[in-house]
Amino acid sequence: LLSQLGPDAHMRMILRKHASERTADDLEIIYEELLHIKALSHLSTTVKRELAGVLIFESHAKAGTVLFNQGEEGTSWYIILKGSVNVVIYGKGVVCTLHEGDDFGKLALVNDAPRAASIVLREDNCHFLRVDKEDFNRILRDVEANTVRLKEHGQDVLVLEKSLSSSRTSVQGASSSHYKYKVMSGTPEKILEHLLEMMRMDSQFTESDSALDDFVLMHCVFIPNSQLCPVLMAQYPFSALQGSEQEKLDYTLNNKRRVIRLVMQWAAVHGDHLQEEDVSVAFLEEFLVAVSNDAKAIPALRDQLTELERIHKVLLRQFSTGDEKLQKRQPIKSSDEILFKVYCCDHTYTTIRVPVATSVREVIGAVADKLGSAEDLLLVSLSSAGEKVIFKPNDVSVFSTLSTNGRLFVCRRDQLDSLTPLLEQEGPSTGSLASFELMSSKDVAYHMTAYDWELFHCVHELELIYHTFGRQNVKKTTVNLDLFLRRFNEIQFWVITEMCLCSQLSKRVQLLKKFIKIAAHCKEYRNLNAFFAVVMGLSNPAVSRLSQTWEKLPSKFKKFYSEFENLMDPSRNHRAYRLTVSKLEPPIIPFMPLLIKDMTFTHEGNKTFIDNLVNFEKMRMIANTVKIVRFCRSQPFSPDSPLASKNHPEVRTYVRQLNVIDNQRTLTQLSHGLEPRRP
Ligand code: CMP
Repeated sequence: LLSQLGPDAHMRMILRKHASERTADDLEIIYEELLHIKALSHLSTTVKRELAGVLIFESHAKAGTVLFNQGEEGTSWYIILKGSVNVVIYGKGVVCTLHEGDDFGKLALVNDAPRAASIVLREDNCHFLRVDKEDFNRILRDVEANTVRLKEHGQDVLVLEKSLSSSRTSVQGASSSHYKYKVMSGTPEKILEHLLEMMRMDSQFTESDSALDDFVLMHCVFIPNSQLCPVLMAQYPFSALQGSEQEKLDYTLNNKRRVIRLVMQWAAVHGDHLQEEDVSVAFLEEFLVAVSNDAKAIPALRDQLTELERIHKVLLRQFSTGDEKLQKRQPIKSSDEILFKVYCCDHTYTTIRVPVATSVREVIGAVADKLGSAEDLLLVSLSSAGEKVIFKPNDVSVFSTLSTNGRLFVCRRDQLDSLTPLLEQEGPSTGSLASFELMSSKDVAYHMTAYDWELFHCVHELELIYHTFGRQNVKKTTVNLDLFLRRFNEIQFWVITEMCLCSQLSKRVQLLKKFIKIAAHCKEYRNLNAFFAVVMGLSNPAVSRLSQTWEKLPSKFKKFYSEFENLMDPSRNHRAYRLTVSKLEPPIIPFMPLLIKDMTFTHEGNKTFIDNLVNFEKMRMIANTVKIVRFCRSQPFSPDSPLASKNHPEVRTYVRQLNVIDNQRTLTQLSHGLEPRRP
């Protein structure tokens, strides 16, 4: 009888049996069959034997039959035994065709997400093997293929990789971990589509939303706003093609809400930067109109509309009220005008007034106008040590990239060699001990921290990304970040300068003690940036070689200092520092140069595109560093110190106007003058 039916028919008969009715022989026959199925080839013998007990045979007679619709909850995973199906996506139509041996439908199961596509039979009489959700989760979830590649029109558009996620916490408070598919790479549009599908509207924060956050932060690197805005708009008027009226409505509403939430997140991350982009402003207005129109018909959208209107109002206000400006330092915008001096060979200067984002070409133009010169001029930065950097015509907002005492010069090419630094670039010839001595270390640390907070606060998250990827490449300025990083150097040089300009040994010992105390207070204020700057200043060879001074330092201070040095130990990727920070609660000012180094390292070690797909793993890594900064600033700086009320205007002014020598050679010479090399 068996042979008369043929192997296929016999198989089908067995597979149609309920799992509990399958005999040992049946299971053996199914198992043998599974050995030939491509979609299962990576699975172990044990898993295949388990599957033999639960696989179900399903067949459909007519082409055009819908196995399931996009947006539905996933209930099963399928393998095609015979025939072929179309993968259909709303707004796109058929994106690919799957054939015998291919599988589909596991994304929704593994990620607990709605179906990413509809599956429609492409021919009559198709046969499938099906594994239902519970069995899939029990047997396959954790062993299923590690990588999923989704194709559209023959091209890979999304590469997902399974990874352990332990974000969700069960009712008992124990965190349960299981595998999920994470985006590794993809086209910008498909990544966005996928992340929107994965978005959960019920909770404030989930792992999938964090991926969306990464997208919003990083998209400037792979899809600028000018291209993203149309994509966002296209995602919005989404409407379901199949299903009952109510289902259709729910599905559409749900998708609208996701896009609205995404747009709000996008607007929040970009903040004031959006004002400077016409496409973004136009998009936001168009989007607001679309949502307002919908909200008239769909009351469920009204809450989000109110929120969106509020964001829109705040972002697009034309004038700030001014009061804010008085109270708090405001971030510098690329359209803000600044005044700066540009020197000539003979040390005369012109003052020009240009927007921050001005290109070098425009600066040269402005200077040439003022000088009434028609010659070909170069814009050069000149450090106090005489080092020159010739800027390229396309460089933007170069003034914030100058070294501490660096200045901008213009000259003809043949004048380059005759450029000499200004006298003022050398820095002070006497220390500020006389006034500095009178200030308490704690006051100084407090005002340094208050100033650092102002600068740090003004750094936009996106500036970190622009800085990492090269602001020239993204055509954006990083001026607020530049100023904050410059401050780090300035503090370092201040410490070295004061030490090297203090000629009396006993005073120098006092000064050393004072800097160690300032470092300690900065650390207490969780200002690790200034803490590092001070300690690095003290460990500069010009200071660390002053052995007579260090010998006279009380042992208590020596101990402090060596603890500080341990914290700065770069070994094992700055482990000591990282451990310390991980235990701190915000507000924190992190050691910024290290964060910058981390991002640069990730950037240089990983390609932004892999086979033309955005390397999203890289985006996630860089976004994680940005999120550290976000965490550090998640609480405002308001020290419960009595100092805040006393306010000490002279200390405040002093720390904001440090006068330093930034020429290492000069500093080393001064140091040798203080304590000559011992014979
Ligand atoms: P799931 O989301 O569970 O249901 C639809 C399935 O279609 C999906 O899992 C994938 O297995 C499969 N599929 C194949 N190609 C694509 C594609 N380009 N986009 C989305 N899903 C696809």
